[in-house]
Amino acid sequence: MSEGISGFKRNFACGELRAEDCGKEAVLMGWVQRRRDHGGLIFVDLRDRSGIVQVVFSPELIGDDFSLAEAVRNEFVLAVKGTVRPRPEGTVNPKMATGEIDVYASELRILNKAKTPPFYIEDNLSVDENVRLKYRYLDLRRNELQQCLALRHKVTMAMRRYLDSIGFWEIETPMLGRSTPEGARDYLVPSRIYPGCFFALPQSPQIYKQLLMVAGMEKYFQIARCFRDEDLRADRQPEFTQLDMEMSFVERENVLQMTEGLMGAIFKEAQNIELPTAFPRLTWQQAMERFGSDKPDTRFGMEIIDIADIAKESNFKVFASVAEKGGWVRGINAKGCAKYSRKEIDDLTSFVAIYGAKGLAWIMVEEDGVKSAIAKFFTEDQLKAICNKMQAQPGDLLLFVADKFSVAADSLGHLRCEIAKKENLIDPDLLNFLWVTEFPLLEYDDEEKRYVAVHHPFTSPMDEDIEYLESDPGRVRAKAYDLVLNGTELGGGSIRIHNRDVQNKMFKMLGFTEEEAYEQFGFMLDAFEYGTPPHGGIAFGLDRMIMLMARRDSIRDVIAFPKTQSSSDMMNKAPGTVYEKQLRELHIKIRESK
Ligand code: AMO
Ligand code: AMP
Repeated sequence: MSEGISGFKRNFACGELRAEDCGKEAVLMGWVQRRRDHGGLIFVDLRDRSGIVQVVFSPELIGDDFSLAEAVRNEFVLAVKGTVRPRPEGTVNPKMATGEIDVYASELRILNKAKTPPFYIEDNLSVDENVRLKYRYLDLRRNELQQCLALRHKVTMAMRRYLDSIGFWEIETPMLGRSTPEGARDYLVPSRIYPGCFFALPQSPQIYKQLLMVAGMEKYFQIARCFRDEDLRADRQPEFTQLDMEMSFVERENVLQMTEGLMGAIFKEAQNIELPTAFPRLTWQQAMERFGSDKPDTRFGMEIIDIADIAKESNFKVFASVAEKGGWVRGINAKGCAKYSRKEIDDLTSFVAIYGAKGLAWIMVEEDGVKSAIAKFFTEDQLKAICNKMQAQPGDLLLFVADKFSVAADSLGHLRCEIAKKENLIDPDLLNFLWVTEFPLLEYDDEEKRYVAVHHPFTSPMDEDIEYLESDPGRVRAKAYDLVLNGTELGGGSIRIHNRDVQNKMFKMLGFTEEEAYEQFGFMLDAFEYGTPPHGGIAFGLDRMIMLMARRDSIRDVIAFPKTQSSSDMMNKAPGTVYEKQLRELHIKIRESK
């Protein structure tokens, strides 16, 4: 091994060398992607985070160091001094950014050796994700993951710049705090000094950011780590990052407009994409009626259509009785899908069963009429009326679910997306932002037999609905809004309650006694007595946002060291056991798990 990098001053990144640089001396440092021995000449693809360049070693140019080049293996760390030369006729590689040039080495230093890695460092790798997570530091050497983290960096820089330019202050809030009200399970941290007491890691900085408004900060943001012990999916991690914001003296409109400006700045700066200056809006009610979802993917149509009035008159008991009870009898028109086989329809029936649907009725529209197991229950006129309402043409497949609202909406909402995927109806280049507003304030929890907050207990009801808080809580709408991008919830927020009476009513609705509310949120209620400005805010899932911008399917790809789907770390084996001494200091005794 030689004398490190002394005397070598890195002056180019591997991936940035171009034909214009021919003749220049380049000092490069990086990792060996590949080495090829061509009898007498050695070619090394040298990689750093900017890309790859081909370095050529010939005995004439490099003298005794040629034997060093022969010893080089994949992932060795090299420092190379050499001259940039055009590639000989016929060897130009148009697929490589640096494909027009080679670097002819005059000096080589092996800065470090490497063991043979467990997988080859390349894009589109088909290696089990758990192996990649175990060797995450190697996985992160791959260009596609480096690009994800580079994008993440660009986005957070753009956020900071933009928010600073419109007067926001970045303020940190504690990680060790008390339980916060986002409704997931807390991660707890035992206290050594107070036996039997625990800190909770924040599910979001919600309470602190509201207290910052009481404290007169006016415009706050934070790129905040949040912790939620919940079941994971491709777009959820137990610890994740929010861009969290709160503003004083604002109404909903101000928050929405500020967000539109922010998103515009981020997409422009990070990806040079112009977004529309205002995003379309749907109320929650409209979103549910048309798309069966509070985060609709509007990149394709196939909207939900109500046929309850026709169903009511029919002889199909399932439909008629649901319609009679005020449930949903609705369907979608899968254009051109009358070709589906029995098996395909059975699969879709099993698919909607996941969401609780008891069946999936279908009508195939053909040139000479309809084909359907339920056609016999309808008159000719009723079938015609259904086809009219569904704007059906020959070749279309009409699919219906009859059930209570929540089940039918959920089933049809997911079915719509499933068919769009199956039929390739989604243009991957679209970025469809959408606001969903006027969420219900409360929802009835059948298990707990009480109302729970849809967003969180500090969300303000809409002024015109406050009067129903006690008489008809289910109909009260909230000053809450979500930002949806291509069917994924990017963020959500609300205008908060700043009036103590309304807050008390809200806690009462949620089944807290005054003592319980005070026990949990007393410090906040106290603070609110000292002149709280009207305020509101929003938080975005940063990981989700980068995932969509980078067009990845999993948020793990845009987090440097993510957890597995089962909430563990493959690399350092966290969570792990601890020493008895540590447990004793924390006053903790482990129970046998049953
Ligand atoms: P909410 O709970 O809707 O609101 O969270 C805001 C956004 O955070 C993202 N998110 C997640 N991302 C990855 N993994 C998770 N487990 C996860 N959970 C949530 C989502 C979501 O839209 N305090 C309120 C905001 C406010 O009212 O200002 C809050 O946390 O993209
Ligand atoms: P059945 O009379 O139970 O054989 O059902 C006839 C058709 O109606 C089948 O295709 C079922 O999948 C469908 N079906 C049954 N219940 C429902 C429902 N609640 N909503 C929609 N379709 C249903």
